[in-house]
Amino acid sequence: MTTTLPATPAPIPRDALVPVLDPTGSGRMLPQEAYTSDDVLTWEREHFFARTWVCAGRSADLATPGDRRAVSIGDDSVVLVRGDDGQVRAFYNVCRHRGHELVPCGAAASRRNAIHCPYHAWTYSLDGSLRATPRFDEPPGFDKADFGLVPVRAEEWHGWVMVNVSGDAPPLAEYVGALDEIVAPYECERLVATTTHEYELGANWKLPLENYHECYHCPAIHPELCVVSPPASGDNYDLPGAFIGGTMDLEPHAETMSMTGASGGVVLRGLDATLRRQVIYVGVFPNLLLSLHPDYVMTHRIEPRSPSRSWVECQWLFAPEAVESDGFDPSYAVDFWDVTNRQDWHACEGVQRGVSSRGYRPGPFSEAEDAVQQFVTFVARGYLGGTLSLANG
Ligand code: FES
Ligand SMILES: [Fe+2]
Repeated sequence: MTTTLPATPAPIPRDALVPVLDPTGSGRMLPQEAYTSDDVLTWEREHFFARTWVCAGRSADLATPGDRRAVSIGDDSVVLVRGDDGQVRAFYNVCRHRGHELVPCGAAASRRNAIHCPYHAWTYSLDGSLRATPRFDEPPGFDKADFGLVPVRAEEWHGWVMVNVSGDAPPLAEYVGALDEIVAPYECERLVATTTHEYELGANWKLPLENYHECYHCPAIHPELCVVSPPASGDNYDLPGAFIGGTMDLEPHAETMSMTGASGGVVLRGLDATLRRQVIYVGVFPNLLLSLHPDYVMTHRIEPRSPSRSWVECQWLFAPEAVESDGFDPSYAVDFWDVTNRQDWHACEGVQRGVSSRGYRPGPFSEAEDAVQQFVTFVARGYLGGTLSLANG
């Protein structure tokens, strides 16, 4: 992928990235600056968050015309709105009068039939066009048509809203590449998010992603997980698209990932015999993790807060026929992964403390960490080239 924006390498010495990309070895962890530097995070917000497709949440949160929500993406705040025509649109969260923010960022979705600026009450239609400028003495030549909200690229993808703030990422279909087919049987667009947890962790945003892409740590920190899924099982994908991940098997006694291996839900109707016996774990660069189980989907959406802090939203999605059934209780999945999430965050925070030390030296990866190597390779190439390559491997 090439962008039309200037490709500026990240503020990390080139020499520090050479070992990460060493073609003769297993690669190395990223250098310290990648986990601790304000300048690197500033660069990442622009190059990894503004110039890619970032997941902004579930489109079901904007179910009805007039529903809107503001999210922060990179350095920008973006308003997502469901229009009268049913389409989700995105706009920069900036009034065209004197620039006031239109909708508080991070607040729950709300509904009105127009977008009202809280400062001088300019009003925009749901399609972003300027509708009213109360008590405004129009200067000569003023034309409302020139002052609509500035649009941002947004598309719905399997029930998620994907946003490209810079406007020049490749088409979404090309960006996600082969992942589209991997995700399709789960019919995520029809699944219902019953539960959302938010976590704040004291770790750089890349550490939970690196951690997600290997189960070498599972025997040491996830006793519950190892009961239902063999940590060394499964294969990783090497396919086109800005994603990394692979499969893991379920133990013979386990129907899904839960404390006992029992499911409290319904097997997703589109899954074949193979998919019913495994879990797919994929990370869509930069901020969405999809964990596709036989009977539910779990997602993590990650946002950097500072070089050493991140926010993670975790959601659990089930088939509507499961959610509507008498006595349905999602806790079999939620409790299992909440325990596992907390074990992972504890580990990530331990790594953050380590990589912040004067004693940190980037270490090598085992074969079981090949997807982490893929991830840091992807990141390091981005740092050097000033842009992302969609090629895996
Ligand atoms: S800044 Fe929005 S109406 Fe004035
Ligand atoms: Fe883990």
